[in-house]
Amino acid sequence: ANQLGDDLKTVLISEREISDKLDEMARQIERDYEGRELLLVGVLKGAVMVMADLSRHLNRHVAMDWMAVSSYGSGTKSSGVVRILKDLDADVQGRDVLIVEDIIDSGLTLSWLLANLRSRGARSVEIATMLRKPDAAKVHIDVKYVGFDIPNEFVVGYGLDYAERYRNLPFVGLLNPHVYEK
Ligand code: PRP
Ligand code: MN
Ligand code: MG
Repeated sequence: ANQLGDDLKTVLISEREISDKLDEMARQIERDYEGRELLLVGVLKGAVMVMADLSRHLNRHVAMDWMAVSSYGSGTKSSGVVRILKDLDADVQGRDVLIVEDIIDSGLTLSWLLANLRSRGARSVEIATMLRKPDAAKVHIDVKYVGFDIPNEFVVGYGLDYAERYRNLPFVGLLNPHVYEK
């Protein structure tokens, strides 16, 4: 049997649903940023798939840059204090920035990132995320573009990992408990 398939309980969001949603999101972004330059900022590593696909749905010029961040502390709970592992190459001063994410869970990572990029003098900083877990939110963030609101369950695929695996699934799925219970 298939190595990946055995680990999955169900497909939550199919490849087709993702693609349709990205198309819709791309049209909104084209409208909202018409006549303005746009810098897409992907948050490594989870956002790689969304960034690659969303940018290809956009019929306009964009610049792309990347950040890698990590939450401080050894506990299982994210503290909201974030360390930059890889900073942007670009200077965001005066620019319209759209942060691209795979998922907003507690919201702590993005809340910090928003404040950080705004403090650098960006003209605007908005967020596009494929997934959001409203029931997991610890902090409120205004998110301009959301693909899907999903239940507070363990999801993988389309960039999202469990122990660095499953990012390469082309859809979003739920893991079989045997995977994380062993
Ligand atoms: C995951 C996800 C988001 C963040 C969301 O990244 O990709 O970036 O957590 O969590 P929050 O809303 O609770 O802050 P992770 O730190 O696992 O790194 P990764 O993208 O490399 O998997
Ligand atoms: Mn991430
Ligand atoms: Mg992760």
